[in-house]
Amino acid sequence: MNLRTAARGFVAFLLSVPALQGNDGWAVTYQASNNVCALRGSTVYIHCNYEYPYANTVEKKLWFTNKHNEPVDLKDDTDYTGRVEYRCGEPSCSYYYSSCTGTCTLIIKGLTLSDSAEYKFRITTNNGGASSGLPGVKLSVTDLRPEVIILPKNPNQLKLECRRTCQLTGYRTYSLYSNWYRNEIQQRHQGKSYWFDINSEHRVSCAATGFKHLPSPSVYAPETPSVGVTPPGVIKEGSSVNLTCTSEANPVAKYTWSKVPTGHPPGHTVQGQQLSFHPIQSSDSGQYLCKAKNDLGTKSSPFSIDVKYGPKRTFVRPSPPGEIKEGGSVTLSCSSDANPAADYTWFKDNQSLLWEPRRPYTLDSVSSKDRGTYRCQAENQYGYLGSNSVFIDVLYAPKTPSVSVRPPGEIKEGGSVTLSCSSDANPAADYTWFREHGGSVEELGENYTISNITTELGGNYYCEARNAVGLHNSTLMFLNVTASSSSSSSVTATTVARGTVAVLLATILLLIFLWMRRKRASRNARDQGGRPDTREESPPCPVYDNVSALTNRSASAAQREPIEEQDDPHYASIHISRSENQEVPRGFAGSLVESDHTEQVLYSAINLKRPKAVPE
Ligand SMILES: *[C@@H]1O[C@H](CO)[C@@H](O)[C@H](O)[C@H]1NC(C)=O
Ligand SMILES: *[C@@H]1O[C@H](CO)[C@@H](O)[C@H](O)[C@H]1NC(C)=O
Ligand SMILES: *[C@@H]1O[C@H](CO)[C@@H](O)[C@H](O)[C@H]1NC(C)=O
Ligand SMILES: *[C@@H]1O[C@H](CO)[C@@H](O)[C@H](O)[C@H]1NC(C)=O
Ligand SMILES: *[C@@H]1O[C@H](CO)[C@@H](O)[C@H](O)[C@H]1NC(C)=O
Ligand SMILES: *[C@@H]1O[C@H](CO)[C@@H](O)[C@H](O)[C@H]1NC(C)=O
Repeated sequence: MNLRTAARGFVAFLLSVPALQGNDGWAVTYQASNNVCALRGSTVYIHCNYEYPYANTVEKKLWFTNKHNEPVDLKDDTDYTGRVEYRCGEPSCSYYYSSCTGTCTLIIKGLTLSDSAEYKFRITTNNGGASSGLPGVKLSVTDLRPEVIILPKNPNQLKLECRRTCQLTGYRTYSLYSNWYRNEIQQRHQGKSYWFDINSEHRVSCAATGFKHLPSPSVYAPETPSVGVTPPGVIKEGSSVNLTCTSEANPVAKYTWSKVPTGHPPGHTVQGQQLSFHPIQSSDSGQYLCKAKNDLGTKSSPFSIDVKYGPKRTFVRPSPPGEIKEGGSVTLSCSSDANPAADYTWFKDNQSLLWEPRRPYTLDSVSSKDRGTYRCQAENQYGYLGSNSVFIDVLYAPKTPSVSVRPPGEIKEGGSVTLSCSSDANPAADYTWFREHGGSVEELGENYTISNITTELGGNYYCEARNAVGLHNSTLMFLNVTASSSSSSSVTATTVARGTVAVLLATILLLIFLWMRRKRASRNARDQGGRPDTREESPPCPVYDNVSALTNRSASAAQREPIEEQDDPHYASIHISRSENQEVPRGFAGSLVESDHTEQVLYSAINLKRPKAVPE
């Protein structure tokens, strides 16, 4: 075995083996062992001798590998472009031996790991003869690999060993030493092993002597990991998301994922460097920590997940809660869990309200028309959700009550009449009927029924509507009770008596007047000596046309005491149809005295008709 080394650290080796005699004068022999182990990046020389019968002319010489089914000239193989060279001498022929012999050397520079193959040589002559030696030369290309060896006795230190996949052949002995480099600076230490501290920031590599330019890959602690998200972009709730943690490290890093700040492993699948959310939920938002670790150290990177989602749990809450008094204020707050924060739309009784999208809905100085059902709707670009409904009850004092009388029309004495009062109020009002200047009636309630009404019960009435918030009185309602002729008996004895006295007085006066006239007439007749005229003159007699008894109860305090005790003025008048005597009693105003409560006075007729009193 003949080993040679090329200059400048390139290892070259000639593999020489004594030529073997082939059959029929044909032979190819390789001057090497059949297995060659070479360092990546170095140059290999594969030498062969060949022999062919005399009087043949060589037409083609080529090297090929077993990588292809058919022999392909390495000079035509793109994998070797620019890296192969054949150095073949002229064959020398011997008439005596009746054969020709030659040598040819294959040179491959810059060996790569993929150059590992079996290499063979072939010649072709004009006689068609071709030959390749079997077997060829098996080339293995190796690189140096520092291997980490953990020293159980010293946990702070590591041992590195520079390893190869095959035993180097054909190199000078000193090339087999390992040189060590820390951060590319050669260390004094030479040898197969190297010790260094864990967690150092150093990158350590090894290289064979003379191969400084071809160092092994470095051994180093993980670099700061980077986190990639698939799919990229916005993370929407419900989608599938993968986080992939990547860190350069040698040896290859191991990864762990945890959620900050709990430190617990996330409740999702962790597979190597990948954290999968399938599907992702809003609660998965937060910070995660990816940790890359190898024997030399640990590095971690935080990563924030912001899961976007449409509104959830939309609620409207009034403040203060409960009922609101008119004039008070209430604020409705809409809340919803959404990312990004939602805008709110307000609705009252299903009608949308104009309001700023983020501000609580405020009702200042609430009025009865603000009463209603309110709700809000939260919306962002990922969806919308309506809230619960809140009923805002506005409490307000009774409005001016409206009053009515049933049955409508004339109120006849002895009949029955119902006064009704109603008022818009919240809560519903309680009602009390009052008789003007007379206090409340016995019956409480909106309806006050007077059965068997008498003229004395006529007059002004009003009702009071009252609730917890306030009270309001109605306008006055005047009851004009008509005394029907059939029910004249209902006129009280006092009235009848007073009327009778008046009529009696008038009759007496009339009789006296008539008597005086008659007496004077008879004296005149006696004085004239004539016969007294028996025929009665028809003097201008007063005609009693009508006697009315009028009451005006509004002019004085009406009381609910028994009628007998009343000291109301009762006006009776004799209406004499003589124009010069026409006189309207002062108390009979026809119209009514306006009460200080009134804006409007309702009145019904009270008319007591009496039979015509005709004297004589
Ligand atoms: C996430 O990773 C799993 C497993 O590797 C894969 O099946 C899935 O398609 C990935 N999903 C996305 C969104 O990349
Ligand atoms: C609002 O709309 C809902 C659904 O259409 C209906 O049930 C409800 O009665 C409506 N409310 C009002 C006050 O109109
Ligand atoms: C009062 O009268 C009205 C009309 O007849 C009736 O609708 C109402 O129920 C009555 N109220 C009460 C308390 O009786
Ligand atoms: C109505 O009142 C009068 C006098 O007070 C009485 O005589 C009459 O019986 C009453 N009628 C009814 C139906 O109560
Ligand atoms: C309404 O009438 C009641 C009873 O007469 C009285 O006490 C009250 O002061 C009145 N209220 C108003 C606002 O006039
Ligand atoms: C009462 O009614 C009668 C007949 O309808 C009418 O003539 C009279 O003026 C009324 N009285 C009052 C005080 O309004």
